[in-house]
Amino acid sequence: MKVLVVGGGGREHALCWAIAASPLLTKLWCAPGNAGIAEVADCVPIGAEDIAALVAFAKDKAVDLLVCGPEAPLTLGLADACAAASIRCFGPSQAAARLEGSKAFTRDVADAAGAPGARWQRFEDPAAAKAYIRAQGAPIVIKADGLAAGKGVVVAATVAEAEAAVADIMESRVHGAAGATVLVEECLVGEEVSFFALCDGTTALPLGAAQDHKRVGDGDTGPNTGGMGAYSPPPVFTDALRDETMARIVRPVLAEMARRGAPFRGVLFAGLMITADGPRLIEFNVRFGDPECQALMVRLRSDLLPALLAACDGELASFDLRWEPLHSLVVVMVARGYPGAYAKGSEIRGLERAAQVHGVQVFHAGTARREDGALVATGGRVLGIAAAAPTLAEARDAAYAAVDAIDWPGGFCRRDIGWRAL
Ligand code: AMP
Ligand code: GLY
Repeated sequence: MKVLVVGGGGREHALCWAIAASPLLTKLWCAPGNAGIAEVADCVPIGAEDIAALVAFAKDKAVDLLVCGPEAPLTLGLADACAAASIRCFGPSQAAARLEGSKAFTRDVADAAGAPGARWQRFEDPAAAKAYIRAQGAPIVIKADGLAAGKGVVVAATVAEAEAAVADIMESRVHGAAGATVLVEECLVGEEVSFFALCDGTTALPLGAAQDHKRVGDGDTGPNTGGMGAYSPPPVFTDALRDETMARIVRPVLAEMARRGAPFRGVLFAGLMITADGPRLIEFNVRFGDPECQALMVRLRSDLLPALLAACDGELASFDLRWEPLHSLVVVMVARGYPGAYAKGSEIRGLERAAQVHGVQVFHAGTARREDGALVATGGRVLGIAAAAPTLAEARDAAYAAVDAIDWPGGFCRRDIGWRAL
């Protein structure tokens, strides 16, 4: 079986690593990939958002399965273009990818499905939004409707802060057209969990959960990032909560999407708040989380490839996934300055030593090889140091032992990944 993975981050390295272990695989490409992915796949210099070139490449190589990592190609219609060219694509259609592309659409679907979430209202008029905020009081959450590179949400502690967020998003348009509509939401309190379900349009299979660390600094301080680390499974997310999430959120939403003529195939990523009243939906993403995907892949015992195929082919009903009885933890190493401006090109040494730590996998997120063969950083998030072990504490110790074996003066990481659970 010939597979093309689209993307070039830590998530895609973890997916390539898992797919490369499949006995079904005969050939693996990744577009555009990175220096770590190049160790398990042939990297192809095609951008993840160049839909026409991706489809032409997949056609030319008679690819049996295209696996899309990031959301942007899906919101641009990669799965639809694949369907038109008779290429099997793991990932939702453009219509189903609206679950990530528009927060108002997501909340409409969730409400129609009866899925529990924060009380909310949609506004196209900033004055009306501000009046509603004054009536509700703080804390309160303001969200740009469209994609805003993960920066479109303000959890406002005061009414003034919330009104300023409305002005930034709707009047100054700091996120461009994504801010034409805002959502004002009740502020939920609890622990956040990233939950993943494999979907084939009608059937959903739980794929596990993880907790992410979004803030850049130890103790969950400082600005938000794409994710500084993750661990799985989260102790707060019991089997009962998983079953409740499947029954009240994932399955009804899947049925509602099918009813709307936009069946969801791929990974549905539910961002949940575990409140005192149970799981509440914060948002959906239409892809694996990163670094959560890395934390899941090192625990997966089943062959990933047949599971992805079953999701594409509508055959998940008879499918089962098995997991190692292990805990995993991922420490993300980022370039100095991230999530602000950072330098590219700093050299990274010592990965061979890091990879020798028992239970550790080093995933690359933003790396390249210099002409002289040296490994250099090319992104904000650069490496994911993933470890799996019988306990979370052992996984943490292994991950940080590997981090300490890496010689990269241009980078840093949080030292407290997993603290909530440890
Ligand atoms: P989102 O982009 O929707 O994931 O929101 C980014 C972050 O804002 C989430 O990960 C939460 O930490 C926070 N957030 C979003 N919506 C709410 C809410 N209704 N109540 C509390 N926190 C929220
Ligand atoms: N780690 C959060 C995300 O992938 O969106």
